[in-house]
Amino acid sequence: MMNGVLRRIHPEPARQVTLGECYDVARPRPHGRPWVALCMVASVDGSTVVAGRSGALGNANDRQLVMTLRELAGIVLVGAGTVRAEGYGAPSTPGLRIGVVSNSGRVDTTSALFTSGAGFLILPEAAPSVSVEAVRAGATAVDLARAVAALDDVAPDARFVHAEGGPVLNGALAEAGLIDELNLTVSPRLVGGGGPRVIQGAPELSERLELAHLLVDEESFVFSRWVRRAGG
Ligand SMILES: NC(=O)c1ccc[n+]([C@@H]2O[C@H](COP(=O)([O-])OP(=O)(O)OC[C@H]3O[C@@H](n4cnc5c(N)ncnc54)[C@H](OP(=O)(O)O)[C@@H]3O)[C@@H](O)[C@H]2O)c1
Repeated sequence: MMNGVLRRIHPEPARQVTLGECYDVARPRPHGRPWVALCMVASVDGSTVVAGRSGALGNANDRQLVMTLRELAGIVLVGAGTVRAEGYGAPSTPGLRIGVVSNSGRVDTTSALFTSGAGFLILPEAAPSVSVEAVRAGATAVDLARAVAALDDVAPDARFVHAEGGPVLNGALAEAGLIDELNLTVSPRLVGGGGPRVIQGAPELSERLELAHLLVDEESFVFSRWVRRAGG
């Protein structure tokens, strides 16, 4: 399917744009670790899943956005629950690394994600030994701040970390103050059900964000880019 026309409606002036020009932007490195940009799609009523997966919420522009961010970033961070639910395979982006966060180590390391050489695990010291590359951070649970800092060694040429969820990992990233940017696609649907929000399991937070841009396409999908406001 062809990607539809995207119009930027913020900042002014409104005009037709490409994903590349909107997302290939400067991301200043926070002290001691790479910038983390989270990307999620949610329905208008706030659910991140339909029938246990995100696919039915997206469209061609949303899928292209994920590809664009993968290519720009060079490294992906994703939770084991998402890899299990969505059946992650070998990425089509050459050289891309995909770090899978798990406390249990219960991840299928025989899948193409790992046999392709793209995938690696992010585990606490206490997790069982594994036959694939693993970053160890934290004693009995993954220490995300240390893990994110260690991604510099895994992919020294990466420009930033593109985080693909899911909601539980997002909650831990938010609690640790590690979300520098949120690329949120609002899918024009009411889906009801009990699906998780973008962030699950975090304590109450009061983090201020700034709207960097707002795009809309011909199918009423809204693509927002939010960045952490300087000074919190
Ligand atoms: N709409 C979207 O954009 C979007 C994006 C991604 C996912 N999803 C959907 O979200 C659902 C999965 O949700 P989820 O919240 O369960 O996914 P998740 O955050 O990807 O996975 C949770 C699992 O990841 C590991 N994990 C997460 N945070 C961790 C931390 N701080 N330290 C150590 N391990 C951590 C744990 O794995 P272990 O159990 O192995 O210890 C945990 O059980 C799926 O239905 C998927 O389709 C939607």
